[in-house]
Amino acid sequence: TIVYLNGQKVDYENAKIPVEDRGFLFGDGLYEVIHAYDGRFFYMDRHLARLQDGAKEIYLNLDFGIDNLEKICRQAVDECGFADTSVYIQVTRGAAERQHVFPENIPCTWVVIARESKGNPEEFYETGITCITVPDERWNRCNIKTVQLLANCIAKEKAKRAGSYEAIFHRGGTVNEGASSNVFIVKGGKLFTHPADNRILNGITRGIVLEIADANNIPYSEEVFNINQLLDADEVFLTGTTTEIMPVVKVDGKIIGDGIPGKITRMLQEKYNNLKQ
Ligand code: PDD
Repeated sequence: TIVYLNGQKVDYENAKIPVEDRGFLFGDGLYEVIHAYDGRFFYMDRHLARLQDGAKEIYLNLDFGIDNLEKICRQAVDECGFADTSVYIQVTRGAAERQHVFPENIPCTWVVIARESKGNPEEFYETGITCITVPDERWNRCNIKTVQLLANCIAKEKAKRAGSYEAIFHRGGTVNEGASSNVFIVKGGKLFTHPADNRILNGITRGIVLEIADANNIPYSEEVFNINQLLDADEVFLTGTTTEIMPVVKVDGKIIGDGIPGKITRMLQEKYNNLKQ
């Protein structure tokens, strides 16, 4: 595991954050997870652009410079030396005496952690996984990738305790996204996924899937659907940097479609994997 703290390479054991870091006290920070396949970053520009967008949303000045961050990410992956690497970036508003209002003139805290990406078990992609639905108890700005993930962690833990892989958030029956993934359904040969508004994170993988659909004449619509439509779908799948394209074969105990990964899901998986080459 390679760690860079505020631009400096540090041993894992010596990578320490001040006790009053605002990331620790308030969850006042942003993060990204980026993958490198065979040493090459996968759509890194989009992840860095999203980080910059998020920073604007929360009035965070990325004082270290995005080019500097990109350089360090590349260095970390090279030094890591694994074929497939997962890079975690976190930026916080820095450390200062605890008060809610933003402190002035303090530098961001920023870390880059690169480690081998072991990926999910192959069988998940081959035979599909199961999900539960949970009420979405998050705030109203889910488009910002903040480190405030307690609601997501609780949802994921509920899924685990139910023997499921992912928890799917809904608000009043309207399906939003997974605890750490976006959700798609297929109905009558058409893809549906929640519009990229304040209720979901506009996933990079989600965007790539829509581009693949475009290129292969698969119709799609970014419109809301409810739990009944989810359970009644021909196919369901999740998308995300770590999740990739994950077929869902059961939700809340109800079998989806034929109970095996669907044809369109399979096709999207194949096209997605080709992009990684
Ligand atoms: N999760 N929605 C949520 C709530 C997420 O946390 C994620 C990503 C996604 C998918 O976004 P993308 O395709 O850009 O990875 C959607 C990251 C990987 C995580 O928390 O580990």
